[in-house]
Amino acid sequence: MRILLLTHAFNSLTQRLDAELRACGHRISIEFDIADSVTEEAVALFRPDLIVAPYLRRAIAESVWSRHVCLIVHPGIVGDRGPSALDWAIQEDARRWGVTVLQATGEMDAGPVWASEDFAMRSAKKSSLYRNEVTQAACRAVLQAVQRFEAGGYAAQSPESFAQRGSQRAPMKQADRRLDWQRDDSATVLRRIRAADGFPGLGDSLFGQPCQLFDAWPESTLRGAPGAVIARRETALLRATVDGAVWIGHVKRSDSIKLPAALAFEAEAADLPQAPLQSWWRSDVPTWQDIAYAEDGPLGALYFEFYNGAMSSAQCERLRAALQWARQRPTGVLLLMGGEDFWSNGIHLNVIEAASLGQGSAADESWRNINAMNDLALELINSPQQITIAALGGNSGAGGCFLARACDLVWAREAVLLNPHYRNMGNLYGSEYWTYLLPRRVGIETAQAIMRDRQPLTARRALEIGFADACLPGDAPAFRAEVLRQAGALAAAPGLGEQLAAKREQRQRDEAAKPLAAYREEELTQMRRNFYGFDPSYHIARHHFVRKSPASWTPRHLARHRELGWKVP
Ligand code: COA
Repeated sequence: MRILLLTHAFNSLTQRLDAELRACGHRISIEFDIADSVTEEAVALFRPDLIVAPYLRRAIAESVWSRHVCLIVHPGIVGDRGPSALDWAIQEDARRWGVTVLQATGEMDAGPVWASEDFAMRSAKKSSLYRNEVTQAACRAVLQAVQRFEAGGYAAQSPESFAQRGSQRAPMKQADRRLDWQRDDSATVLRRIRAADGFPGLGDSLFGQPCQLFDAWPESTLRGAPGAVIARRETALLRATVDGAVWIGHVKRSDSIKLPAALAFEAEAADLPQAPLQSWWRSDVPTWQDIAYAEDGPLGALYFEFYNGAMSSAQCERLRAALQWARQRPTGVLLLMGGEDFWSNGIHLNVIEAASLGQGSAADESWRNINAMNDLALELINSPQQITIAALGGNSGAGGCFLARACDLVWAREAVLLNPHYRNMGNLYGSEYWTYLLPRRVGIETAQAIMRDRQPLTARRALEIGFADACLPGDAPAFRAEVLRQAGALAAAPGLGEQLAAKREQRQRDEAAKPLAAYREEELTQMRRNFYGFDPSYHIARHHFVRKSPASWTPRHLARHRELGWKVP
């Protein structure tokens, strides 16, 4: 079938559905929901058999839904209606939740149900539930609904015919989210902030300044007067509750962008007592620890839980210090575990943007950040004593993908998506030694196609083309357990010494053929142009990305029906 994905943005769920539906043999094109007239035009050009809307922020025009079956993905159980489905479910501590695929009609979220799936809730932020449980359930439900539509004869059911169902819910307002630091315990504070994370954040104040809070973590030992900000650690601030304290990792001040909390309140945080951790070893009690190391015999594992997978210069420098330390440990295999939701999304575009808001320069901060990423990648490429494995349990994008490829092996969870290309960010050329790392894995032609086409890769596809070395099933905890098991077996295997010797020899041969410094210099020559040259595309793209400017058109590489010469096949 020809299926048009009508969506607010090409977010991770839309990317997954695009890949899954194409794998089923359907012809897919994408149109962003910009204006009714634009959607009508897209429908006229593509003449879809079916329209699927994975992520919309407003209703579909009657001119479209009255002539075509439009299937809407709603992140709520059958009968649940309204734009804050997940927010309410998290805040009210629902044990189970679900996804419903329903047909668009004149009434929002009230049309007949084509498929639904449910799942157990987890204590996590909204965006994490969306990227994991919701995305998995939505893929299953959409594939089933599409099969039913294709087979014909399926009578979609009215929501009222289901025994257990949700109800119409109002949009959640900041007044519904409000915290009372004199009364709310840590569990309540965590749950409320998580219900608003990544968007819109929980409206509150810090140091007497209004702001939205994100990225909350429990603390188990430090305490203080309820509501007081009592300490800082690297980028996070610690605020006391009635029964403990909670770390706040990110905030958005009024008229500003989302930033690490200690950077957003740099002046105010300067006088706070520091609460550093004593080492890289993973804490055995709950606290905020963005970089953590654990070891099991000959196997080491380095975790880096950076919000949204974005890696600022300072984070890269700290991770490099941790890596240098981990490389001295008596281990034979070192796992690079990344974070739970993302492995890495490359340079930290928000921190770079923040440099331009003050006295600094975004170009200088971009330059510092890409060099810090490169230093980290270099440290991984030159790890002669260990086999390094990037364990991608979460999605990865841009430079983050090549940082992973700087390891000897890349093991990816089946559900993850990789976006190993840079050009979407204002034609950025990219660095992280990709010109060395990519062609030797996938060949020059495929490398060029990846960079040119800018399409997401599923883990399965990444394995097929040689970008990944293994693709493992399961949810994130099952993946981590399996990775630890398989890497442990590799570390204990008798042939490890030979593998390490072969790796060192290969590196010497590669270095003799062309030094890494030459790859870096060539890439940075291009990047210098991106950052300091006359074409401001990267700075403009970054500006819009961090401010979440709504799209004004669908990029050509997604709107396949808008290609010149397109004809309905
Ligand atoms: N720097 C700062 N923030 C980043 C980021 C980066 N490099 N990459 C992603 N984010 C943030 C997004 O702004 C968003 O923030 P929110 O919490 O306020 O919503 C969040 O991470 C999730 O991103 P989103 O785009 O919604 O996730 P996705 O899974 O749908 O898409 C990517 C993932 C990687 C395709 C997309 O985020 C992207 O293109 N990121 C930019 C990558 C890049 O160009 N890096 C710089 C070059 S090395």
